[in-house]
Amino acid sequence: MKILITGGAGFIGSHVVRLFVNKYPDYQIFNLDNLTYAGNLGNLRDVENAPNYTFLKADITDSASMQDLFRDYQFDGVIHLAAESHVDRSISDPMSFIMTNIVGTVNLLNAARANWKDMEGKRFYHVSTDEVYGTLGETGLFTEETPYDPRSPYSASKASSDHLVRAYNHTYHMPVVLSNCSNNYGSYQFPEKLIPLVINNIKHGKPLPIYGDGKYTRDWLWVGDHAAAIDLVYHKGRDGETYNIGGNNERKNLDLVHTLCDTVDELLGRTVGEARKTITFVKDRPGHDRRYAIDATKIKDELGWEPTVNPEEGLKMTAEWYLKNEEWLDNVTSGAYQKFYDKQYG
Ligand code: NAD
Ligand code: DAU
Repeated sequence: MKILITGGAGFIGSHVVRLFVNKYPDYQIFNLDNLTYAGNLGNLRDVENAPNYTFLKADITDSASMQDLFRDYQFDGVIHLAAESHVDRSISDPMSFIMTNIVGTVNLLNAARANWKDMEGKRFYHVSTDEVYGTLGETGLFTEETPYDPRSPYSASKASSDHLVRAYNHTYHMPVVLSNCSNNYGSYQFPEKLIPLVINNIKHGKPLPIYGDGKYTRDWLWVGDHAAAIDLVYHKGRDGETYNIGGNNERKNLDLVHTLCDTVDELLGRTVGEARKTITFVKDRPGHDRRYAIDATKIKDELGWEPTVNPEEGLKMTAEWYLKNEEWLDNVTSGAYQKFYDKQYG
């Protein structure tokens, strides 16, 4: 079995690559990534020499190179995670999201279609986001039947790629499966996203930026639980189906940051309450979605998946990891990061 994992040098992708390389020694795992600012081979040091692992540096927006790779390696399955993933960047630079998330996905679908003469035993899995469903009010949950209503260039690009994956299933009988997941957190996440950004800023005594009133709500899931869900969906999900994945763990941003502040204070041996003093309310994200929350009943009932890590334990584990892995953090926050940071937060 030859499995192509795209975006494997990124945050979630690196957890999926690690899981598959270790759990399935009989599979050949190919990690395709063009190492953007978010991709880092330092995320995979522990598996880079495994006999069943190969790294392929390539850009999914390059259709010819996707065709060549499929012809040369004859992949049996694709787990597609490569994407531009940060909402704020999609607001300042929508085109790179259109190119990677939409055009890149179609290039992969076309390369698979051209090479999978016999679709038997093949599978194209698109890893997507709950943001395609738009925003919720105070109550309610996103189910697999919730109509799409994407509201940022990022979520519109992911919604578009979801539709294209389903269209290839319907039109060309491409065997596909999809999942739409809530906010992930854990090790190896690039510190542009809320949780690692806050930990890094506390460590450096920098202000902790909270957009708007801080009452925006997200449903947080530990990345290891997402990787386990992806394994199940890839192997056992029904053809053409979509599975929602969530942590059943809603938090308002300000509450989450308070917990994180106290956790990091404790880990650093400081007086609890110190970090909270550095919270700073900043200009809101344009078009900021108020609340996301997932109903993950389908994946629980059909595939037996449930989150295993509780939020307090998960946040502590995550904060410990960033504080311990100073070299990784310093490495990814050197160079272009400062420029991005200054532009975003002034
Ligand atoms: P990430 O930004 O950490 O990683 C993305 C990876 O894709 C990087 O390694 C990058 O180098 C690679 N990549 C980007 N453009 C590429 C291109 N043109 N060609 C080849 N590789 C390219 O992202 P993430 O947070 O790990 O998210 C992975 C996937 O999961 C994305 O599709 C995202 O939409 C989805 N998702 C993320 C979350 C979350 O909370 N982070 C939640 C639900 C779904
Ligand atoms: O819901 C799944 C999505 O979760 C994924 O599809 C995206 O790839 C991923 O980036 C994430 O999107 P969010 O926009 O929800 O994540 P982010 O960490 O950027 O922001 C989380 C919340 O915190 C959001 O309400 C915005 C807010 N925020 C974020 C940053 C970076 C702040 O208040 N201050 C900040 O500095």
